[in-house]
Amino acid sequence: MTPLRSNRSFVIREGRFTAAQKKALAEYWPRYGIPESTSKIEFDRFFLKKQPLVMDVGFGNGDSLLSLAQQREDLNFIGVEVYRPGIGNVLRKLDALNINNVRIVNNDVNPLLEFNVDADFLRGILVWFPDPWPKKRHHKRRLVQKEFLQLAINALQTQGVLHLASDWYPYIESMRASAAQCEQLVPVELHKNPLNLQRPLTRFEQRGLRLGHKVTDLLYQVNK
Ligand SMILES: C[S@@+](CC[C@H](N)C(=O)[O-])C[C@H]1O[C@@H](n2cnc3c(N)ncnc32)[C@H](O)[C@@H]1O
Repeated sequence: MTPLRSNRSFVIREGRFTAAQKKALAEYWPRYGIPESTSKIEFDRFFLKKQPLVMDVGFGNGDSLLSLAQQREDLNFIGVEVYRPGIGNVLRKLDALNINNVRIVNNDVNPLLEFNVDADFLRGILVWFPDPWPKKRHHKRRLVQKEFLQLAINALQTQGVLHLASDWYPYIESMRASAAQCEQLVPVELHKNPLNLQRPLTRFEQRGLRLGHKVTDLLYQVNK
């Protein structure tokens, strides 16, 4: 199968992979990890309780994912990340905090949504502070583009929510323009979030705020 896009939205960084993160990856992956698959993944079977599924794409070090999972025990969270030190960090804390409503996929979200999921299985997708790729020649590497939005629409149930956030305003403008090309995405005001989900302050948001950047959230509901 040929993937929809060839420009990766990430670079593999494993420079600061601590011994504790490596140990956590080896020890807790069997409990919290969803193994790579060449076919469709039945996500419900990896969770203790069947509940609506929300995907956190590119959770980084995962602290906001953990706080969200504790805030909303009525939802199941699938964290998707390619950064293995971040996965190690999350696995260690999932165990220490005894959190049961999070499972982790170590993969690029694009092929995952393109080849390994059924349509209409998600209640929400969160893409918080995706890498901004500010240089013009790198814009093609940005994750949130029309191809990704179409995969997201396919995976979301009707009335499902797509929540985007960034501190890089030119990226927000391009996300808005791409979403405007998808007629199934209906903009929703943040305070009317149908998921009623409060975005915790994320690590990259804190960095953006320190640099004096303005943070913008974009919320869409899928109308199929
Ligand atoms: C700037 S960080 C933001 C992390 C976190 N959401 C936060 O706000 O602190 C973006 C993350 O997205 C991950 N990422 C980028 N492209 C991805 C992809 N195609 N699939 C999965 N993760 C991706 C990167 O590895 C990185 O950890």
